[in-house]
Amino acid sequence: MPDKLDLSALWKLSYGLYIVASRSGERMNGQIANAIVQVTAEPPKIIVALNKNNLTHEFVAESGMLSISIIDTTADMQFIGTFGFKSGRDIDKMSMCAWKLLDSGCPAILDHSNAIIEGAVFDSVDVGTHTVFLADIISTEVLSDTEPMTYAYYHTVLKGKASKNAPTYRGANKPDEKKGGETMKYVCDICGYVYDPAIGDPDNGIDPGTPFDKLPDDWVCPVCGAGKDVFSPTD
Ligand SMILES: Cc1cc2nc3c(=O)[nH]c(=O)nc-3n(C[C@H](O)[C@H](O)[C@H](O)COP(=O)(O)O)c2cc1C
Repeated sequence: MPDKLDLSALWKLSYGLYIVASRSGERMNGQIANAIVQVTAEPPKIIVALNKNNLTHEFVAESGMLSISIIDTTADMQFIGTFGFKSGRDIDKMSMCAWKLLDSGCPAILDHSNAIIEGAVFDSVDVGTHTVFLADIISTEVLSDTEPMTYAYYHTVLKGKASKNAPTYRGANKPDEKKGGETMKYVCDICGYVYDPAIGDPDNGIDPGTPFDKLPDDWVCPVCGAGKDVFSPTD
């Protein structure tokens, strides 16, 4: 990457938050995405950037169909955590939400969504880590007048983070050597809970004074249930 690039300039870009869903045979799945833009009006077309490692990428590439649910401000971190930090390879996300089947055979998530868009992929571009899918909009439905959630709202109000497969991922914070690992606090990348070694997690059998790296492997975030792997050292 050129030295001259000041990535903080990119942090000033604005986005919304969406759930892209698709299917493969009888299997259905969805994921959070912020990299979605309407690019033409007549006829209306959109582009969607999906990480190649995501199950949803696999389903969209295979079926050529997708749905987009526009997330509104009623969504909480638990909901966003399920669709944005967990993979359908590990959990059945569709059993955790309300959804409906669209004419294309794609599911559309209804929970915390104010509108749904159905798209048929007509082309795709390989952009390295992600594929950009170009799609014709084939149906739309407004579900409510609730405010759409912006990426800025997600960061400032919900204190949410970008996940490592998001195009906007900024990398995990590196531990500060000067602070020392024994007392270093770690923050959950899903819900923002901070693990403080001085306090521990007594409700779950973790004594005060337990450093983060001494927590058992099966310890989970007491707030949202995420595993240790989504925690990063605080600055
Ligand atoms: C705020 C936020 C924004 C995200 N934006 C994108 C995105 O634009 N494209 C993408 O491929 N992944 C994005 N992700 C990551 C995926 O939602 C995440 O990798 C998900 O677990 C993939 O699920 P799947 O394997 O079930 O498809 C984002 C995650 C979050 C939390």
